[in-house]
Amino acid sequence: MECQLTITRTEQKKEKPASDKLGFGVHFTDHMFTMDYTEGKGWHDPQIVPYSPLTLDPAAMVFHYGQAVFEGLKAYRNQEGKVRLFRPDQNFKRMNRSLERMSMPLIDEEFMVEALKQLVAVDKDWIPTESGQSLYIRPFVIATEPCFGVRASYTYKLVIVLSPVGAYYAGGMQPVKIYVENNYVRAVRGGTGNAKVAGNYAGGLKAQVEAKEKGYEQVLWLDGVENKYIEEVGSMNVFFKVKGEVWTPALNGSILEGITRDSTIQLLKDWGIPVVEKRISMEDLHTAYVNGDLEEAFGTGTAAVISPVGDLNWNGHQMIINGEKTGELTTKLYEEMTGIQYGERVDKFGWSVEV
Ligand code: COI
Repeated sequence: MECQLTITRTEQKKEKPASDKLGFGVHFTDHMFTMDYTEGKGWHDPQIVPYSPLTLDPAAMVFHYGQAVFEGLKAYRNQEGKVRLFRPDQNFKRMNRSLERMSMPLIDEEFMVEALKQLVAVDKDWIPTESGQSLYIRPFVIATEPCFGVRASYTYKLVIVLSPVGAYYAGGMQPVKIYVENNYVRAVRGGTGNAKVAGNYAGGLKAQVEAKEKGYEQVLWLDGVENKYIEEVGSMNVFFKVKGEVWTPALNGSILEGITRDSTIQLLKDWGIPVVEKRISMEDLHTAYVNGDLEEAFGTGTAAVISPVGDLNWNGHQMIINGEKTGELTTKLYEEMTGIQYGERVDKFGWSVEV
């Protein structure tokens, strides 16, 4: 990336939300990063500008054919005011995999990490410091060319916005209730399931609405071919502790390759806890439950961090896990992961990046 990043600071700073009223992704900071792409010219005009609405042609292709890719990561500020990002290189790597899948132009990953550091530094006063709070970072790319022809757009916009957040789930670290979806399908092999694209989430909303009506917060997706094997939850990857061993669905092309998932696997291995990445059928999981072998279940994700799962409903079989209490391993992982993210624990993997 040859062009210079320009920074224009706002004259009108917004009022920051009270720390007990953050919620998730509803407040936005004073600035944002934008960069444009034009076929033949490449990515150009990277800039940090005051946060503002985007002006797009109503015929912009993102509105019609859905070329939209996004990422999610966080910045953490500790009590001394040090600001850290967690594995940001991995997010821009994954963004490139998603862009490639959607026939969208690739980005310069190193430049993006540097640009993000500058954006976070400009808005660092927005990063909350209380336990469990952070600055959620949402980079996204959309197709902007006005055209109704079904083909890849010739122009794009990359934007990064920032949002001070608390816990993703309203109940904080309380175990979540999950409904195993049997009717709708999230992804099939060869589709876009392992890419972080907007359409994957839109297609999952109906199941989520129906699960909510039944009293469940999230949906657990099964494979799209046999409707048997566990894939992921709407907003996180899943893990199960069964007789001292930790199981998680093996990446198969239709599961999102979570960065927190990968970090969790590395931590568990480092602790000498056996982790098995494999095809896990609901039937096997239910058998483990009935036999009293299903000790803990938890989800992993940037937004979800490490979230305990307390109740899993599969075809009317209700599985109450660990008495709907957060398990010991789940707690240990949460503490280690957030300890590294906030710079409070030794980061032997070199995941934490100072801003
Ligand atoms: C994340 O964990 O960052 C996600 O993107 C999941 C969800 C909020 C869409």
